[in-house]
Amino acid sequence: MDQLIIQGQHSLSGSVKISGAKNAVLPIMTAALMAEGESIITRVPDLRDTRTMIKLMEIVGARCSFKDNHLKIDASTVNNPEAPYDLVKTMRASFYVLGPLLARFGTVKVSLPGGCAWGPRPVDFHLKGLEKLGAKITLNSGYILAEAKRLKGAKINFEFPSVGATGNIAMAAVTAEGTTVIENAAREPEIVQLCKYLNQMGALISGIGTSRIIIDGVESLHSANIDVIPDRIEAGTFLMAGALLGKITLTDVNPDHLDSVLLKLKEAGSSIETTSNSITIEPGHLKAVDMSTAVYPGFATDLQAQWIALMSLAKGSSMATDTVYHDRFSHTPELNRLGANIKVENNTAFIRGVKELVGAPVMSTDIRASASLIIAGLVARGTTIVSRIYHIDRGYERIEEKFEALGAKIFRDKTSG
Ligand code: EPZ
Repeated sequence: MDQLIIQGQHSLSGSVKISGAKNAVLPIMTAALMAEGESIITRVPDLRDTRTMIKLMEIVGARCSFKDNHLKIDASTVNNPEAPYDLVKTMRASFYVLGPLLARFGTVKVSLPGGCAWGPRPVDFHLKGLEKLGAKITLNSGYILAEAKRLKGAKINFEFPSVGATGNIAMAAVTAEGTTVIENAAREPEIVQLCKYLNQMGALISGIGTSRIIIDGVESLHSANIDVIPDRIEAGTFLMAGALLGKITLTDVNPDHLDSVLLKLKEAGSSIETTSNSITIEPGHLKAVDMSTAVYPGFATDLQAQWIALMSLAKGSSMATDTVYHDRFSHTPELNRLGANIKVENNTAFIRGVKELVGAPVMSTDIRASASLIIAGLVARGTTIVSRIYHIDRGYERIEEKFEALGAKIFRDKTSG
């Protein structure tokens, strides 16, 4: 398995181009399954997860071609509404095919996703929502079977503004009979773009970006093309590195998607300048600042691990609370191996800033934990070896090349067997 070798304490400078958003393109790809014809999706990041989703598209019968971040999906030949276990277990987002294939075929079989590195990740909101739309849901031998001759619009109220459930139910509802209202819907930019894409396909969705989404069912959809929004989580990851290691500029990014993160970074001592499509960060005296994640537009849970790496070197003590995933702290023992001083109680990490981190071998456990270990390795004295980096390759496009171009000493060791 590949590993990353990092020589720490090299400052960063220059600019980095942010890739398209993983968490936008995955549901957009499954939405493309709803209509005959060819959709062209541009600015698709070349990731393990996008390639896994392409495999799933082909398993259900679509024809895909992917080159230079351009993805063509011809869904005319989709004929097998089933997402197999061995694929769903590697990527929870495969569950996004449930709504689209049920809407198009009236029946779909999808393996229940398991948990992930940091704990269980239920799908009860997805299933309850589909039942509200009239689907018959049965579970046998680890597969969900959903059936519905024609889905009927309904009022659906999420007890938590789930990103995935909002996406799945919106896709199922766009061709249902009558109107669907989703209360307490997710407002993440990735769901906003999914809803805009569905409207480009002929759907009638209003209230996009608010907690109340209204969907008037239409008879059918047609294919459409779209350019994926920038990845705000990749951008936030580079910002945390910049706050530690030097003035860098992020290009092809949407600063509006990072309001709460930019505010926190300024509070912690960085200077930030933005234009409509760039962000420049310059390190200051790093101060310990408390942070609590929240659903959008709050501080993203997907940046919590990277933030903890940053606070490990801040002057003073701080708390980092995750209100979205209460057990998403598998990165903290690894950061402590590098000399950080972090204790976790319930869903809060108590961080005492230290003067320096010292390089050591550490192990990735999930996409964002890996990112926090890379940031820590870049600032640690000596050499850090990050293993199991297939996790990072799921969500970051050529991350070591991007950091190297900014002046970091980091390379991918493929010989580690
Ligand atoms: C999406 O996951 C993202 N993944 C995650 O990013 C992100 O961490 C998460 O949203 C929160 O922002 C993709 O978009 C592919 P949720 P999702 O449903 O949709 C609970 C990354 O690193 N819940 O909003 O699975 C759930 O347990 C990944 O790119 C239920 O209880 O997240 C969690 O506590 C990691 N029942 C909370 O809601 C359900 O049916 C938020 O989950 C669904 C969710």
